[in-house]
Amino acid sequence: MNIRDKLKRPIKDLRISVIDKCNFRCPYCMPKDIFGERYQFLKNDELLSFDEIYNITNIFSKIGVEKLRITGGEPLLRKELPVLIQKLKSIDNIKEIALTTNGFLLKKHAKDLKEAGMDRLTVSLDSLNSESYKKLNGQNLDLDRTLEAIEYSNLLGFENIKINCVVMKGINENQIIDLAEFGRKNNIIVRYIEYMDVGNINGWKPEHVVSAKDIINIIEKKYKLTPLDSNYYGEVASRYGFSDGLGEIGIISSVSKPFCSDCTRSRITADGQMYTCLFTNSGHDLRTAIRSEKLDDFEQYVKSIWENRTDQYSVLRSKGKLESDKVEMFKIGG
Ligand code: GTP
Ligand code: 5AD
Ligand code: SF4
Ligand code: SF4
Repeated sequence: MNIRDKLKRPIKDLRISVIDKCNFRCPYCMPKDIFGERYQFLKNDELLSFDEIYNITNIFSKIGVEKLRITGGEPLLRKELPVLIQKLKSIDNIKEIALTTNGFLLKKHAKDLKEAGMDRLTVSLDSLNSESYKKLNGQNLDLDRTLEAIEYSNLLGFENIKINCVVMKGINENQIIDLAEFGRKNNIIVRYIEYMDVGNINGWKPEHVVSAKDIINIIEKKYKLTPLDSNYYGEVASRYGFSDGLGEIGIISSVSKPFCSDCTRSRITADGQMYTCLFTNSGHDLRTAIRSEKLDDFEQYVKSIWENRTDQYSVLRSKGKLESDKVEMFKIGG
């Protein structure tokens, strides 16, 4: 059964945050002064169990979801993650499972993830300069470990590994070319993300954004780019190939060119709140529902949430309507 929301968009993706904790303190997501030792993250018994995640995903797959993305916080901090992947992989309509990770713990887990059925990896990497990498992860952590993990994942046979780079004015624009060259050399697709006003704590201002146009201009000073067709309906990144045929990049332009009109993504937090947009302020409590309702009623409940969905925050933002109360990125996973 394929359902549509109020703007006629089908539900195709489910992004599952498996934990809200992270070993990084990126200033645009978990600034260190707020997320100190005393910060109360979710307790283990507040997290959805693997069985609950499986049951929820199974229902989502019945109403159209084909693609899963596992997020966090840092998802590799969730114990036994490969066990979950193997369970999710067994669901009939699920065609693909991908992971978004900061990569620091990836080398240790990559083989088990691959064996469990993880199809793709996206590693968040905002800089290839070891000093600025240390600063940007807020924990003084070493770049080499992340790079080794990427190399190792490549060797293990993960295909289409991607890198996400959030580009911030005056902070890491100077990394754009280095990352592009790293991608070309290692057969990795680098995706530059316009810095977004997710959550309320990062002090985002429009002037911090480096637009897609500026990013392209910076790359084109050295390499000519050719626009490529989308790989699939609703793809978030606009694709560009290097005109010499070696490699491609993607640009995610949620600020300068919103893509809400074909947004097929649903999200659940680690404690089971369903969000129908990255920028909404409240979720729907699936954890209580899955614990108390019959599965048939639960399916009806999720269906009605999607069928009533009207979200198009990025479009409204471009018309000047900014929300003041939004879910934080570390809870919703991006
Ligand atoms: P592929 O399957 O590899 O194409 O990736 P994806 O579509 O699952 O995208 P991914 O999770 O890699 O997206 C990269 C980043 O783009 C996310 O971490 C977010 O920061 C941003 N992004 C993804 N989806 C949305 C969305 O629906 N709205 C907005 N505003 N940003 C999004
Ligand atoms: N704007 C754009 N991207 C962001 N991410 C986290 N916060 C923001 C933001 N404010 C990215 C991370 C990671 C993914 C989960 O989302 O760098 O790649
Ligand atoms: Fe952790 Fe990712 Fe947030 Fe950075 S952006 S603090 S890696 S969850
Ligand atoms: Fe989808 Fe909301 Fe992002 Fe628009 S702003 S693309 S509706 S998640």
